[in-house]
Amino acid sequence: MDQQKLIALLMQRESVSGEWLSEQLGVTRAGVWKAVGALRQAGWQIESAHRKGYHLTPPGDAVWPSRIRAYLRTDWAGRRIDYYDRVGSTNRVAHDLGALDAETAPHGTLVVADEQTAGRGRLNRTWQARPGDAALMSLLLRPASLAPEEATGIVLVTALAVCGACRAFGAEALIKWPNDIVCDGKKLCGMLLDMQADMDLVRFAVVGVGLNIAGCPHADDLRHAACLNDAAGRRLARAEVIARFLEEFEKDYDLWAARGMEAIMPLYAAQSVTLGRRVRVAGLRETFEGEALRLTQDGSLVVRRDGGEETVVRAGDVSVRGVMGYV
Ligand code: BTN
Repeated sequence: MDQQKLIALLMQRESVSGEWLSEQLGVTRAGVWKAVGALRQAGWQIESAHRKGYHLTPPGDAVWPSRIRAYLRTDWAGRRIDYYDRVGSTNRVAHDLGALDAETAPHGTLVVADEQTAGRGRLNRTWQARPGDAALMSLLLRPASLAPEEATGIVLVTALAVCGACRAFGAEALIKWPNDIVCDGKKLCGMLLDMQADMDLVRFAVVGVGLNIAGCPHADDLRHAACLNDAAGRRLARAEVIARFLEEFEKDYDLWAARGMEAIMPLYAAQSVTLGRRVRVAGLRETFEGEALRLTQDGSLVVRRDGGEETVVRAGDVSVRGVMGYV
């Protein structure tokens, strides 16, 4: 019997049936029972309840579904939560789930991992975090009727939600356009949007969030990275932070879905570290400097160049003077 596989299966969901375990492991129900007994002997806390199956109590600061659920008060965000000890990229896993039917992988399914071996960042960069340090998660979304060009709204909603969650724990977090969360001029969190779309309709979207909580090494220069525990001035349970993010996300997403960009834009602008500041834009075709003036209705950034001309920035890297090492 592969004990590691049994532990991984027990960790993946809140409770799992003996029947499912026996199918996954290719052993009889009695074999499962015996293996669970061996794990208990080794110190793992595993409860078994009639009809519910087996439940493993997580150790330490785990981000297991049962831990997150203990804090969670949402209707749909985190309805299904899949956990991985170690996975390539949670965005990849959530994307694969998106291809399944909406009953199996509903709107609001969360994929969370303790470690990623192929974590992806924006603009084809990698994303690194040590096990136990961060909230590494991806949310699967099935918008009712959304055109691909409107999907930027999801990124703004996510930024708003992460920022709101960090602030709820006392961090003075702000949003650096379009989707970094910064604190004290350093990066606390990055986000990555993937989607599957036809010409005029988004089939599903996956928004990935990498939020530094207990520690902060990632691909960026360490001098430019922050972590939430430091910003909040106390040690937070990662599961509680994730649950809080899901609550904020559900609230902001529902507002956006019902009332559009107009409703979330003022909230976003109020927490922006970019607007009104001097910025350097490294776009796909050119690099220039100027002042960040406002956001357009589709969430693009309007920058007044030093010559006075206004440019609408849709993508690229925007550095804000005084933030993340730009002086
Ligand atoms: C950025 O470059 O700022 C975006 C980083 C996004 C990282 C997160 S971690 C969870 C999810 N899975 C990934 O592979 N990437 C995102």
